[in-house]
Amino acid sequence: MTAVKICPAADIAVNQPLKVTIEGVPIAVVKDSAGTVHAIGDTCSHGEIALSEGFVEDDTLECWAHGSKFELTTGKPKNFPAFEPVPVYSVTITDGDVYIDPTPLVIS
Ligand code: FES
Repeated sequence: MTAVKICPAADIAVNQPLKVTIEGVPIAVVKDSAGTVHAIGDTCSHGEIALSEGFVEDDTLECWAHGSKFELTTGKPKNFPAFEPVPVYSVTITDGDVYIDPTPLVIS
């Protein structure tokens, strides 16, 4: 698929997830404390909870419902109850704007 323009990177607050929907795909956009922007599937793999309503801690996004933390770069859970990863997506910054391709990256 084609990357979709989201917003200026400067408009995304550090450690405050932003929910976007691209072609029907819910995605949590997170700018970490180093300023890197990540795109991670917004639906927790353990339940129908929006991860964008959770908390950013270190390099993870934590589900507020039961506490599983998902790595921002891989989508892999670091703790139970979730044991399946959520997808992650390609982020590019062009002329200061964030673009996300809603095709899940293949993580080994
Ligand atoms: S719904 Fe996210 S950990 Fe249970």
